[in-house]
Amino acid sequence: MKMELVMPLTILVVILGTTCGAFGELESNVKTAVLLSPKFELGPGSVANKYDYDIDFPRGHIALKSFNAEVVDESGNQVPLHETYLHHWVVERYYEPKHVTTQTRYDGHRLLRPSGHVLVRNSGVCQRNTLGQYYGLGSETRGTATDVPDPFGIVVGDPAEIPDGYEEKWMLNIHAIDTRGVVDKLGCTECRCDLYNVTEDEYGKPIRSDYKGGLFCCYDQTQCMLREGFDGPKRTLYLRYTVKWVDWDKFIVPVKIYIFDVTDTFKIPDDSSGAIPQHNCLTEYNVESCSPGEEKDCVHVKRTSFPMQKGGYLIYGVAHQHSGGIGSSLYGKDGRVICSSIATYGNGKDAGNEENYIVGMTTCYPKPGSLKIKDGETVTLESNYSSSRGHTGVMGLFYLLVAEQLPHQDFRHSTRSSFFTNINTLFA
Ligand SMILES: *[C@@H]1O[C@H](CO)[C@@H](O)[C@H](O)[C@H]1NC(C)=O
Ligand SMILES: *[C@@H]1O[C@H](CO)[C@@H](O)[C@H](O)[C@H]1NC(C)=O
Repeated sequence: MKMELVMPLTILVVILGTTCGAFGELESNVKTAVLLSPKFELGPGSVANKYDYDIDFPRGHIALKSFNAEVVDESGNQVPLHETYLHHWVVERYYEPKHVTTQTRYDGHRLLRPSGHVLVRNSGVCQRNTLGQYYGLGSETRGTATDVPDPFGIVVGDPAEIPDGYEEKWMLNIHAIDTRGVVDKLGCTECRCDLYNVTEDEYGKPIRSDYKGGLFCCYDQTQCMLREGFDGPKRTLYLRYTVKWVDWDKFIVPVKIYIFDVTDTFKIPDDSSGAIPQHNCLTEYNVESCSPGEEKDCVHVKRTSFPMQKGGYLIYGVAHQHSGGIGSSLYGKDGRVICSSIATYGNGKDAGNEENYIVGMTTCYPKPGSLKIKDGETVTLESNYSSSRGHTGVMGLFYLLVAEQLPHQDFRHSTRSSFFTNINTLFA
């Protein structure tokens, strides 16, 4: 009698094993779409900063598995970074009321949106409209893995989550700088205000005189200084993006997206005020060049610390940095390394291997379950840049995918309950 009870258990384990193996099959169900953004035009030295709403994107209740992008020309040829520098691209999720007469769009100066437009932010930690994206990278995009391992996925399009009368849509922001024929390629990509001859921001407001470079100086249609006499054709370009996803099913384990910013001046308000902690993410910062004479191996290190309200298991991590970046690490409260992401530079001319540009960032894929961030744990983000020369408008972001549960726990749980149900039926 006892034997018989053990037997079904053994069989169950085998079945469990096969079902677990079926996670691998998610791979074969992966759907891929290769899509083109609306076109943008760039002449030598010019800048495009486009916000395209309601872009082509997979619809329905799905789990996103990866997102990659690159700049291509009208014939679909890859454009190298030394011609068109991809400063960044960002993909945001939003809800818009169905049947609106004015769809959300950007007219070059202002965001026009119907009332009811809702940005669906990632899980944190920046606030308001800052760094709320689902995806975003820059020059490193061709060489940076974004795959979410099975059985995890970024779950979107859940009809139960989308408010009644609303649709889920996606916005793509592309910021690209054409550096053909410019006097200083690095200076133009770092948006140095003097090279753009810019003293007012996009909205006509004077720029502080101590602001030497950054996004305020390289907005849409600004122009970086060209070498005298340089002439080159205007080009029509696209962002070609590849999205991979699977249809949602109950075996998919959702991950949350977090984006940390090393410029975050996190403050815990004094308890008496009862205010919630403020994350103020400035997105950009400058790197001062080190003192003359020690230019050789100077490293500028910037850090910030804050508690992560809700923790979980790290599934994926990657940093985003600009030229000059060396790498970035995220540490736990006890000093353990949660993830280190190192910049790789190209050493040639071709797209994907451009010398002096960051063409990839290494990623972290810890064995799911092996790396846990505790609820409320204080984490420290550290971003290193070479300071052999100064840099303006650099970034130090860290993108994390965190799972709050693990598949086998979930699985064991649900299998056990169905096992007991089976036993009950067997012995009924
Ligand atoms: C810079 O801008 C000013 C006006 O804002 C203009 O008078 C001047 O010619 C510009 N310089 C260059 C080099 O384009
Ligand atoms: C950043 O610099 C610090 C201090 O020198 C060093 O301990 C750390 O290993 C560096 N991290 C990376 C990713 O380069």
